[in-house]
Amino acid sequence: MKGVILAGGTGSRLFPLTKVTNKHLLPVYDKPMIYYPLECMAKAGIDEVLLVTGGNNAGDFIRLLGNGREFGLKELHYTYQDGAGGIAQALGLAEHFADGGSICLILGDNILEYAIKDCCNRFRHQGQGAKILLSQVENPKAYGVAEMEGDRVVKIVEKPKEPKSNWAVIGVYFYDKNVFEIVRTLKPSARNELEITDVNNAYIQRGEMTADQVNGFWADAGENIDFYLKACNTVAQNGANKEASSK
Ligand code: DAU
Repeated sequence: MKGVILAGGTGSRLFPLTKVTNKHLLPVYDKPMIYYPLECMAKAGIDEVLLVTGGNNAGDFIRLLGNGREFGLKELHYTYQDGAGGIAQALGLAEHFADGGSICLILGDNILEYAIKDCCNRFRHQGQGAKILLSQVENPKAYGVAEMEGDRVVKIVEKPKEPKSNWAVIGVYFYDKNVFEIVRTLKPSARNELEITDVNNAYIQRGEMTADQVNGFWADAGENIDFYLKACNTVAQNGANKEASSK
């Protein structure tokens, strides 16, 4: 399985920190934010990764990350997203790279306490469809939120005004080759983006979605300045990408 990491977007919620640089180059405790998803891929045994970025700082990523060997990757590829048309639009740029195989997608501002190796293995055994990871949060309105029937996710709503649960869909996703065909069917949302939540709902409707619960902390370091600070402090206290599994 290959990996795709997204590091585009505008970073507007962390302005003015992001006025002259890309959000994913900001420090989280003792490392640039982008190191965490890269290490997460490497620890899961995913050693061919495509980094999607955009804006004015694309060259800085090459200066910082080089060919990815330092992180234990075999190959680190780069591509460029014009504008910020959404997570699913950025994912669509990975079709040629995926080359008909499955992929693991990680949002570049997401940080996990524990490595995701077990989730990867479960998806490999699943063989097709998609898998999402869920984490319980106090502020579900800020995320994609899973509506549950027992253990089953029946629908995901992006940033709901009245969340039906406090299970956030975190920014780590597993997809089979059909994801690119689904991306092509999407229409822009009210915020004028191609939404990853629409991709996930398509898999749910096909009956091909599974969900795992995440152990330990999960941080969306780009959510706002307070969550960014909290992510820095939590990583300083607990570490990240530690060798233990999600449930
Ligand atoms: O963090 C988890 C949440 O991420 C999910 O619960 C939501 O369902 C999902 O939509 C997403 O929500 P956000 O509003 O937090 O997404 P954000 O705009 O912050 O973008 C997430 C990452 O994707 C960030 O690292 C930048 C990258 N990105 C984003 C856009 C819109 C791109 O590379 N290109 C883009 O066009």
